[in-house]
Amino acid sequence: MVTASEGAAMGSATANENWSSRFAFIMAAVGSAVGLGNLVRFPAEVGANGGGAFVIFYIFCVVLIGAPVLLSETLIGRHGQSSAVGSVKKVARESGASEWWAVAAGVGMLGAFLILTYYSVLAGWIVYFIGVFTGDLVSNIASGSLLAGALDGQSVEEVQGILPALQADAGTMLTMHAIFMAVTIFVVARGVHGGIEKVAVWLMPTFFVLILGITIYGAFTGAFGAALEFLFNFDASRLLDPTVQLSALGQALFSLSLGSALMITYGAYASRDTDLAKSSGLIASADTSVAIVAGLAIFPIVFAAMAPDALAGVLAGDVPVEGGLGLLFISLPVAFQTMPAGSIIGFLFFIMVFFAALTSAVALLEASVSWAIRRFNVSRVIATIVLGLTVFAIGAWASFSFNSQADFQPLDFMIFSGQPVFGIIDELTAKILLPVSALLVSIFVGWIADQRLIDSENGLDGGLHKFWRFLVRWLCPIVITAILITGIFPGLVGI
Ligand code: PHE
Repeated sequence: MVTASEGAAMGSATANENWSSRFAFIMAAVGSAVGLGNLVRFPAEVGANGGGAFVIFYIFCVVLIGAPVLLSETLIGRHGQSSAVGSVKKVARESGASEWWAVAAGVGMLGAFLILTYYSVLAGWIVYFIGVFTGDLVSNIASGSLLAGALDGQSVEEVQGILPALQADAGTMLTMHAIFMAVTIFVVARGVHGGIEKVAVWLMPTFFVLILGITIYGAFTGAFGAALEFLFNFDASRLLDPTVQLSALGQALFSLSLGSALMITYGAYASRDTDLAKSSGLIASADTSVAIVAGLAIFPIVFAAMAPDALAGVLAGDVPVEGGLGLLFISLPVAFQTMPAGSIIGFLFFIMVFFAALTSAVALLEASVSWAIRRFNVSRVIATIVLGLTVFAIGAWASFSFNSQADFQPLDFMIFSGQPVFGIIDELTAKILLPVSALLVSIFVGWIADQRLIDSENGLDGGLHKFWRFLVRWLCPIVITAILITGIFPGLVGI
């Protein structure tokens, strides 16, 4: 008889790995949820969708759709004790339903795998910026001006040009992508216990300290009042705007890592005494708080560097704020130039984003690794390396969308039209694969699975249980179907 830990040490394909504590589970799940979605996508969506209205609608989406689906996914995993596909199969079998429901997890797993291909390219940019800011910090330390602004000797145009120059330089971009994937592969290959959990338990608390520190710094040195006004002041009429609503829903799924088989996978490593309902609530609130705090960390700094009339235009809702990637890689570095201690803060900022990106990337890879180990009966190390290298290769191809293959648009129809490979993967995952998986999960848990089995796992009772059931059976499927249809056929709602 081989014990689980011996099995894991031998890299046995069948060893059932587990989190070593509830804290480890929560940190890993929060680590997967908190990522570029919170730090890049959320501020960009807020900026593009008029600030406060988006924030309010987003919170509704998290509470009414995100949290219930999150609980559904973790409970399937905990009951199934296998890969996401294996777990859905087991619950289906025990419920007397078709094992084909495992497609719900399969679609999500494919989504997670594909998201990682472009996620890692973006994370590679973060690695590059860490390099830029490290160099800057070192030279400031050498010249005794530790508290100077960032990138001192460079003009604003030069700083604005760092990202475009990187994008034009395929070799450097590939090297950064390779470094990030190598770290991700290393962590996942070390296993749930020795890799994923260790990284989450150390990096996430550090991340929280850094983001709070930078927010407090922004509150004292930046345009905090303007940021608050931007994030929380809203025009009620925009609440009814379908573009705002759909973006908020899509963002909630992505940010909570739903519809990607991931929460099923991580749920499978949770112990029987973990209260999944409480944990889901905690994970959803932590992720949402980070998104909002990220807004409070980024906007004061960016707004402080804006000309007063430009800022007035943004606050009046007349001018959209520079979108996602530009916000992080162009507006922020420019702002760090003139901020006190901008060099240190800039360096810490990109380290913080790196931590968030790594714990998400690890999760994105684990979703398919956990399946491949069982499906092909191979060791974790082999599964991780093969899948990781494939992700690297597809990501490398996608990264050419920023230079030599910008005009290569192989699927020039519907939501893919005008998109190079990078954009196609983004559209396919965010608008089709993730929502389809989340939809199937909610139908499966709400209608198909044996309700006694579901109830024995969810840890809910009384009114809250009834409410959750209602959300999973009715609201989630209906609303997610609406996201899907309007996402694929934007013309329907006139967007
Ligand atoms: N939730 C992550 C983010 O916000 C992305 C992610 C999606 C991670 C799906 C894992 C699974 O960046």
